[in-house]
Amino acid sequence: MAKQITTARDGFATRLGVLAATLGSAVGLGNIWKFPALTGQNGGASFLLVYVLATLLVGLPVMISEIMLGRRARANAVGTFRQLAPKGQPWHLVGLSGVVAAFLIMGFYTDVAGWVFAYIFKALSGEIATTDPAVAAKAFEALVGNPVQSLLWQWGVLVLISVIIIAGVAQGIERTTKVLMPVLLLLLVAVCARSLTLPKAAEGLAFLFTPDFSKITPNVILMALGLAFFKLSIGMGTMTTYGSYFRNDQDIPLTATRVMLCDLTISILAGMAVFPAVFNFGFEPSAGPSLLFMTIPAVFTSLPGGQVFMVIFFCLTAIAATGAMLSLLEVPVAWLAESFGMPRKRATIVTSVTLAIIGIPATLSMSTMANVKIFGMTVFDLYDFLSSNVLLPVGGIFICLFAGWVWGAANVKTELSNRGQLLNGPIIAAFLTVVRWVSPILVLLVLLKGLKVF
Ligand code: PHE
Repeated sequence: MAKQITTARDGFATRLGVLAATLGSAVGLGNIWKFPALTGQNGGASFLLVYVLATLLVGLPVMISEIMLGRRARANAVGTFRQLAPKGQPWHLVGLSGVVAAFLIMGFYTDVAGWVFAYIFKALSGEIATTDPAVAAKAFEALVGNPVQSLLWQWGVLVLISVIIIAGVAQGIERTTKVLMPVLLLLLVAVCARSLTLPKAAEGLAFLFTPDFSKITPNVILMALGLAFFKLSIGMGTMTTYGSYFRNDQDIPLTATRVMLCDLTISILAGMAVFPAVFNFGFEPSAGPSLLFMTIPAVFTSLPGGQVFMVIFFCLTAIAATGAMLSLLEVPVAWLAESFGMPRKRATIVTSVTLAIIGIPATLSMSTMANVKIFGMTVFDLYDFLSSNVLLPVGGIFICLFAGWVWGAANVKTELSNRGQLLNGPIIAAFLTVVRWVSPILVLLVLLKGLKVF
């Protein structure tokens, strides 16, 4: 495909590259680590159902809005609002809250990513090749409970991501994700095939697909909504930033829908890889953040050839996490580079060093700072809660209101139809109704109820 960059700014070169990079941002630890953990903790199929609804009614419209605004402004998360908002209105604060959210998410995300990279080596060495939950727990705790080891892994991850980011958008992000995404899908299907052929696979499938509506509470709905935001990398400017690198001839609603569907498929595939195996061997589906790191190795070890699958599984997770972290880091880097005229390299280093510092208390939450609780949460949980369940949904509300009411119908129609070139009038009309009314009201209600404001 011809390299066609529509502006002097760096951007994604090909349409396939745009799709791969956007999908690379969406697919990550959210699918493989967070989705099974939250689904297991919140009732299985009923959680999945609420999650799917949140993705359709809120996730997709917010994602389309962000990409649309970013592409029109051709600027970072903060700059986009500065450019498009009427003079004197402080909409750029939405972008700034996104930068804060990016730092909070990266603070714990790089920690978990570090565990994943460490687990590739543990899987290779056979250290975690055990079916005994107690031994598996010991191996996990030996890693997360060791402050020096876990910090070194986290910093290693930061160095890796920084090197890719410094290489630039088309060269770094696009090239990396274009290769990584198909590999990821292939590996996941292989792991799924393995899990689904287990004798008691049906129990895991029933857990994942037979809803029990009594398990749906306001808090469960807030968790599902938070996961939808986290999953699709929305509410914080990642998609605005990526949108600013979109080509002018890209069909935004179509691309966003494809990304949403692929992302959902990958989460469900991850669930289908994890739950049949968990039930087959009698593990606890509600193990939470440790589910991936304790149960999976034990499960694979009890299979013939399991060690190979275990290595594959953790490589897969590391690949997914890398694409997502690239997009997280890109938010502050693009902002620093454009709004402060910092060279890209310096912006990346400044961001990474800040992240290394912010990440310390999150990482130490599992060891020396385990007893430090803020609002009853460890720093790790607090970063996660504040970003997914507060900042991203609040950002989402304002992004919808801005797109639907402030920027307005005429601009939306021009941008989503690629200046009249796409005949997608009904889609645009439906989109406008949803972003003006449905999504903001839903998010507001869930947020207030979930946070027990009323
Ligand atoms: N969507 C990513 C995941 O599922 C995480 C992410 C959140 C990335 C927010 C960018 C912005 O892992």
